[in-house]
Amino acid sequence: MLENLLRRKPVDQATPDGEEHGGLKRSLGPVDLTALGIGAIIGAGIFSSTGSAAAGDAQHVGAGPALIVSYLLVAVACGFAALCYAELASMIPVAGSAYTYSYVALGELVAWIIGWDLMLEYGVGNVAVAISWGDYFKSFLAGFGVTIPEWMSTPSLIARDHAPPGLFEHAPHLFGIPIVFNLPAALIVVALTVILVVGVKESVWLNSVMVALKLVLVVGFIAVGAFYVMPTNWHPFAPNGFTGIMTGASVVFFAYIGFDAVSTTAEEARNPQRDMPIGMIASLMICTVLYVAVAAVLTGMVPFHDLAVGDPLAHALQVAGLTKLAGVLSLGAVIAMTAVLLVFQLGQPRIFMSMARDGLLPGVFARLHPRFRTPHINTIICGVLVAIPSMLFEIGDALDFTNIGTLFAFVLVSAGVIVLRRSDPNRQRPFRTPWVPLVPAASIVCCVGLMAFLPGITWLRFGGWLAIGFVIYFAYSRKHSRLAQSAPTPAAPPSTAH
Ligand code: ALA
Repeated sequence: MLENLLRRKPVDQATPDGEEHGGLKRSLGPVDLTALGIGAIIGAGIFSSTGSAAAGDAQHVGAGPALIVSYLLVAVACGFAALCYAELASMIPVAGSAYTYSYVALGELVAWIIGWDLMLEYGVGNVAVAISWGDYFKSFLAGFGVTIPEWMSTPSLIARDHAPPGLFEHAPHLFGIPIVFNLPAALIVVALTVILVVGVKESVWLNSVMVALKLVLVVGFIAVGAFYVMPTNWHPFAPNGFTGIMTGASVVFFAYIGFDAVSTTAEEARNPQRDMPIGMIASLMICTVLYVAVAAVLTGMVPFHDLAVGDPLAHALQVAGLTKLAGVLSLGAVIAMTAVLLVFQLGQPRIFMSMARDGLLPGVFARLHPRFRTPHINTIICGVLVAIPSMLFEIGDALDFTNIGTLFAFVLVSAGVIVLRRSDPNRQRPFRTPWVPLVPAASIVCCVGLMAFLPGITWLRFGGWLAIGFVIYFAYSRKHSRLAQSAPTPAAPPSTAH
């Protein structure tokens, strides 16, 4: 029984089989990889979570202006994790991300947990981005005097004690129940799902335009906002001390998610050993500098306790009287976040597809549309699974849930590096994490440390999520696993490919 749970996919089986994935052109250099990272990283985290992380809310104590320190701490944690991702990604350069790595390194049960867990990074992460998209879309329209009624742009599971005044009274009622939901957030997901079913070509050109737009937006905010900073707003600097800084860090971790996307291009990098860590670390460093500057300017422009809004950057510009600029920023943020949504909404069905090919999920998740050649049913399921919660939940809940799941995935990936160094020491590693086991151990400690500062309710939800995952694994996946059906011997054969 235990042997079955620990059965590992041979590395050779996880590497691409020429026909389907093979022959990718090694065309990406360090600048492309860095741009790719920035494209995936900058999104709802900086545009949205920065405000509530500084101000705090019912479940989190705020970091205040010391959010600057939170951003620095998270960057260090992500740097360690990035070095671990780079090693596994260069050994096993296939779609499926951490799921595939852990199938090879840590066995089927852990792989299942990671795949299940990655739904939190991709799916629930996108719930958060969609909600933030809705907030900025609303500000953008407001700039043109178009107001979306509160009842159709507010999550229905909002706690009554912090709902906008009159929300429930002014909403239409059905059988005496007020109808309140977040329509813009759901609509953008539905629109992108349609586009993804028909198929998009990932375009390097489009990514470059998006990256440039994001950089202009963020740098523009810093440059303009700096003139409106009042240093008195930086006092007190850390109103809730270390706890505030760490709690803020556990929230803004979301802003860094996405650097792991660089690791999935290992097969297309010209020189993975040199360029993948450059791409990940450079994109992390550039974003860190920008994030720290945004946190400093934002908390300098507006007293931190006034930042608990969905669109803090636009809000700060409005407070400074720069209404038009706030409108421009909102439009830019809407476009930038559409790109993040697209990447993750594209990624989630691919992970399901990998799991379905391994037999851990039903075959329908791997079925391709006869004409569009996209995993259409899977894409629609993912669209529905993101669109519905984005109508109901508040962004804070979605951020915390995403963060705990992603941090846990980072922990398992880091552990995977240590395990594979022992179990498969001779395999070629186009990139080697430095100072193993120190760096992976540091990554694990940092990630667990950040998880510890997430609210108790998030831990409960995470526990519940894993429990559901276990039930599905034992009821379905374990029996249908392709590995179980094809190979009676649980252990991975020794590697021969170099
Ligand atoms: N880091 C990405 C964002 O902030 C997920 O939207």
